[in-house]
Amino acid sequence: MTALIHLAFALPRFCALLVAFGCLVLTGHATIPLVIAGLVVLSWPGTYSITRRTFTGRDARQWADACRHSGLYQPEGAQRGERPAPRLLRVEQAAAGRVLHVALSHGWTAEHVERAAPALATWYRARGVSVSTDPADVSRVQVLIRDTDPLAGLGGRAWPNLKLARLSLWEPVPVGVDEDGRVVDVVLAERNVLLAGEPGAGKSVAQSLIVATDCLDPYCSVWMLDGKGVDLAMWEPCCNGFAGANHDQAMAVLRDAAAWMDASYAELRATGKRKVALGDELGLLVIDELAFYVNTGTKKQQAGFNEALRDLIARGRAAGLISVLATQKPSSDVIPSSIRDLVAYRWALRCTTPEASDTALGRGWAARGYDASTISTSARGTGLLLAEGAMPVRCRSFYLADEDVEVLAQRAVLLREHLFGDVRDPVGEVGSGDLAESTEGAPLVPGPAPPPPQDAGRDWGTPLQRKIRAEIEREPEASNREVARRVGCDHKTVGRVRHQLEQ
Ligand SMILES: Nc1ncnc2c1ncn2[C@@H]1O[C@H](COP(=O)(O)OP(=O)(O)O)[C@@H](O)[C@H]1O
Ligand SMILES: [Mg+2]
Repeated sequence: MTALIHLAFALPRFCALLVAFGCLVLTGHATIPLVIAGLVVLSWPGTYSITRRTFTGRDARQWADACRHSGLYQPEGAQRGERPAPRLLRVEQAAAGRVLHVALSHGWTAEHVERAAPALATWYRARGVSVSTDPADVSRVQVLIRDTDPLAGLGGRAWPNLKLARLSLWEPVPVGVDEDGRVVDVVLAERNVLLAGEPGAGKSVAQSLIVATDCLDPYCSVWMLDGKGVDLAMWEPCCNGFAGANHDQAMAVLRDAAAWMDASYAELRATGKRKVALGDELGLLVIDELAFYVNTGTKKQQAGFNEALRDLIARGRAAGLISVLATQKPSSDVIPSSIRDLVAYRWALRCTTPEASDTALGRGWAARGYDASTISTSARGTGLLLAEGAMPVRCRSFYLADEDVEVLAQRAVLLREHLFGDVRDPVGEVGSGDLAESTEGAPLVPGPAPPPPQDAGRDWGTPLQRKIRAEIEREPEASNREVARRVGCDHKTVGRVRHQLEQ
């Protein structure tokens, strides 16, 4: 079979040479035959090796042998010679190893190749074999023979958004680099994220990239639950609600997020929309060490927490609420499958077993070679991200050191303070001079703060702002949320009007 393929590729070139030689003999000139030969060779459909890289005889022999030893040849029930091995089309070199493009025919399916992946890895003496299918054509599979781990050698890579003064959660968030050195980014609106991995795998670092984006988007609300109480603590001043290892406080935070979600739905109803659109306010619920809230405390507390979280995740999408959950154990006792199935993006950092990796990514991925337990312990932050594409992407998250988080958190506090003056408890003494230096000249805020109202009369503000103002003046003690409920708007809008009035 291999010999036939080679003959098919060699024949056009052989013919072209024959034509050229004939012309040379007949005309006695070398130029015209050479041009003819060149054109024929280039235009011939079978001349793959000239126009793009194909495989060598060694590649073909290896593939044939590997198939024979991995059960990809004459499977059970087939007559001798009835089912030749899947056909090798092309071999490409990628950063992680060789990618074999294979065509399936004679009853072979991608599943057969996936099942053979461990045996292929042994035959090739590789670190592993990953099999991916082309969603547009199931008769084509790509078999990656993984020789090296290009991510292991990378040091902590700086986050590209580290120096930016202001971000938007509607924009794609760069979260890491893949094996070919390309930046991997995720669009979070209308999505939830699950991060799983053993202790020290890099969950909190990866989560902090999303948290930083949210906090530097001043029109986003954020609620945080931190089972350890230290990983997210620096962001607390930007939060609408924050709880450490305390079940009652955590429940209060979830109730607050639910109130925001209901207010968002009320606003959507009032404006005749069915879901948030580009530019609308988004909310972010971040939970680190989810197991603490779900597995400890009384049965009643656990049940209450589970129910509140399930409701937020189930109804949050259209209201603009994004949930980012991090856990060491993504099993069903920590995150019930009714919740897990609603999480679109799965990021499996290094796990201890293939089963744990599958619990995070979904059943069957480890068998196809996407197994987070094979990630080296030294490659912290490396994981498999199943997001937009159909296949998980092996990538390493950008690294945010504690000092970076501190700078970003201070910048977010200043930004919010400057725009709304409603930051709860700004961190330390941070002058705008410090900030200008840290952002390398990038402006902290895009424009001047809104001017205070000059005129308290009927011309002041929009009709909604006047309504809010009247409500605040009628009952100054009422909370922003209460006023927002009465007027039928978002509590942040009330906060802004109150701030203007106070000035
Ligand atoms: N992307 C990364 N690049 C380099 N080092 C990382 C990366 N992510 C994590 N680390 C290292 O791993 C340590 C543990 O990360 P952390 O996010 O706290 O793990 P987890 O939350 O999974 O327990 C960090 O302190 C850091 O030294
Ligand atoms: Mg952590």
